[in-house]
Amino acid sequence: MKKQLVSKLLFILPVSIMLTMVGWQTPSETNDPDEEYISVLLSKMTLQEKLGQLNQRGTSSRENGISEELKQMVRDGRVGSFLNVQSKESILELQRIAVEESPNGIPLIFARDVIHGFKTIFPIPLGQAASWNPDLVEQGARVSAIEASSTGIRWTFAPMIDIARDPRWGRIAESSGEDPYLTSMMGAAAVRGFQSDDLSNPNSMAACAKHFIGYGAAEGGRDYNTAVISEPLLHNVYLKPFKAAADAGVASFMSSFNEVNGVPASGNEYVLRQILRDDWKFDGIVVSDWNSVTEMIAHGYSANEKEAAYSAARAGLDMEMTSHAYENNMKQLINEGRLSMEQLDEKVKNILRIKLRMGLFESPYFDPNQDVLYAEEHLEAAKEMAIQSMVLLKNESVLPLSSETKNIAVIGPLANAPREQLGTWIFDGDEKHSVTPLTSLKGKYGEAVKYASGLAYSRDQSTSGFKSAIKVAKSSEVILFFGGEEAILSGEAHSRADISLPGRQEDLIHELARTGKPIVLVVMAGRPITLGNIIEEVDAVLFAWHPGTMAGPAVTDLLSGEASPSGRLPVSWPKSVGQIPIYYNHKSTGRPANEESFVHIDDIPLHAWQSSLGNTSHYLDEGFEPMYPFGYGLTYSQFEYSDLTISDDRIKPADTLVVSATVRNTGDVKAAEIVQLYLQDRFGSLTRPVKELKRFERLILNPGQQARVDFRITQKDLIFYNASGDWVAESGVFKVWIAENAKSGLEGEFELLNE
Ligand code: NOJ
Repeated sequence: MKKQLVSKLLFILPVSIMLTMVGWQTPSETNDPDEEYISVLLSKMTLQEKLGQLNQRGTSSRENGISEELKQMVRDGRVGSFLNVQSKESILELQRIAVEESPNGIPLIFARDVIHGFKTIFPIPLGQAASWNPDLVEQGARVSAIEASSTGIRWTFAPMIDIARDPRWGRIAESSGEDPYLTSMMGAAAVRGFQSDDLSNPNSMAACAKHFIGYGAAEGGRDYNTAVISEPLLHNVYLKPFKAAADAGVASFMSSFNEVNGVPASGNEYVLRQILRDDWKFDGIVVSDWNSVTEMIAHGYSANEKEAAYSAARAGLDMEMTSHAYENNMKQLINEGRLSMEQLDEKVKNILRIKLRMGLFESPYFDPNQDVLYAEEHLEAAKEMAIQSMVLLKNESVLPLSSETKNIAVIGPLANAPREQLGTWIFDGDEKHSVTPLTSLKGKYGEAVKYASGLAYSRDQSTSGFKSAIKVAKSSEVILFFGGEEAILSGEAHSRADISLPGRQEDLIHELARTGKPIVLVVMAGRPITLGNIIEEVDAVLFAWHPGTMAGPAVTDLLSGEASPSGRLPVSWPKSVGQIPIYYNHKSTGRPANEESFVHIDDIPLHAWQSSLGNTSHYLDEGFEPMYPFGYGLTYSQFEYSDLTISDDRIKPADTLVVSATVRNTGDVKAAEIVQLYLQDRFGSLTRPVKELKRFERLILNPGQQARVDFRITQKDLIFYNASGDWVAESGVFKVWIAENAKSGLEGEFELLNE
């Protein structure tokens, strides 16, 4: 009887009163009242309920309504969390059953992939990274959390902070690109935005750092493929953003689908336990990816479901998404003594801890009458993010459009494609709210805009629309071609081997070029697109990614000069697929490529002597440079860098080095510059990358205005994970650049003296 009373009181009385009543210490006498609360609760749970907490049930992302069977499972305490429950009513009903009818009244957490917006869709994360503006990323995540939580969804499977160095990989769209520092900054900002400063705010969401680990290193950029990552590379590159997310207080991690060095991530004790729990002291939830526990059978790692459950449990995975390996086998594994009750309790505690921090025990329900979806300020934030995400790759004096322009041809499959502009992972975004470029341009330029899509969709193979497109082009002063990829061509399971513009888009651009009219190519895509075949045909390229709900107003502001482009590439841009992987922070090699030694394939004399070809690390056809470097992006102005100063030539480990430069807007318009600081550790006990981004700052300067930028460097920026598994800053020379991108900049050097 007393037990039953406590079970009910547990959820209605403040922890302190409840603990005192049951004879436990008061919070003031214990270290952590939350942990006491969890222990009391745990002591009351049956094995079935404990296993229930580990169970995340999925309903399909399109399914409506919840079956009686699932409701009964909740009533029995056999479910800990749901993903993809469709309606507010279903969420409230399931939560009511969990709180009022299940044995210990433990609330459920409702999860969903809220990746770059809930209803108001922001640019894809790769586009957001191109803003190099963590504040805006944080704001976007906050908006997403406000909208999603208003419908009862309190857990998002975001941010995805996989390092992505292969644009063939469809999920590069969800990443922040190739660099660990930029990804760390963006990931931590997203965590702050989703979770706010207090996870128990009713409008905060638990974030999820995914996919742990190495998913982006899929061989050949083919989704789900094997990842082979050396130990130093794992620590110096792939783990870094995850550590940053853990430091930002992320509530959960998701184990990835892939294997890393032969062991699937979902059963990988080294990463899930040793690194995440033991080294980083992470105390939140580790959830599997969808069926990734049972997929360890297909990996050839676990012989059956029971072994998969065993490996995942032993490794440290708490909650199983959708598959049933824990549910079906954990009891037997415990009875057989292969897993202990302590191991199970640990997992349950991790889950209860997050539920407690989310305030779900005190406030399990949400107010279903909030009116926040597509709020004016959310759309404004999405527009600003879209503006700052777009990267001007080329501009031969055609942009911004002259205000005198009387005839504008708007052509291309993405000019008026409300769904496609939203990009991948938009379960909830409604294309009816999308403002397309065509709509916005007509709003701004009225009758001057003439439209003919030319191609119905990005993969369209029919040339039947070419004629009318060319006719419209001929009568115009400028052609705006909106090309790219439909949303479905990037994202999970959507890798491409050829990443040029699909369908007949290149053919149409060639035809349009014959009209002699200037062409502005606006690309909407989920990944870098190889532009080599058409770059000479077009006068300007604005890379817009998939910009989201407010694509149209953002593009229009940029094309018209209302705003100056300020996005910078978060990836190195390949000239062709054959150059991939290509990333700026590569190793030097023993024969670094250079202009002097490079011989182009067309310049090789007939019967040339074998060793006359430079013998450095390049391709005979594509050379060794990307088409556009990491960090690159034009504006409508120009910037000049000068007066690099370094506070000391020689520093000791405890010193702070100040590296400064003057940046001046030498152009005619106000514009933003992203000032970037790179370092190179010249010689190491393990070779170090040729450059590594360590800091950046966004400056907005008026014409003629200049600013002095100071970057502070400490030992933390100089350390790396060495062959013995230690983080060290080794004595020696470091090069430093303050630069506008990874291939330019003012260069200096300093020396670190450890003695
Ligand atoms: C599989 C994806 O890999 C993961 O990122 C996503 O969160 C889950 N499915 C849930 O939809």
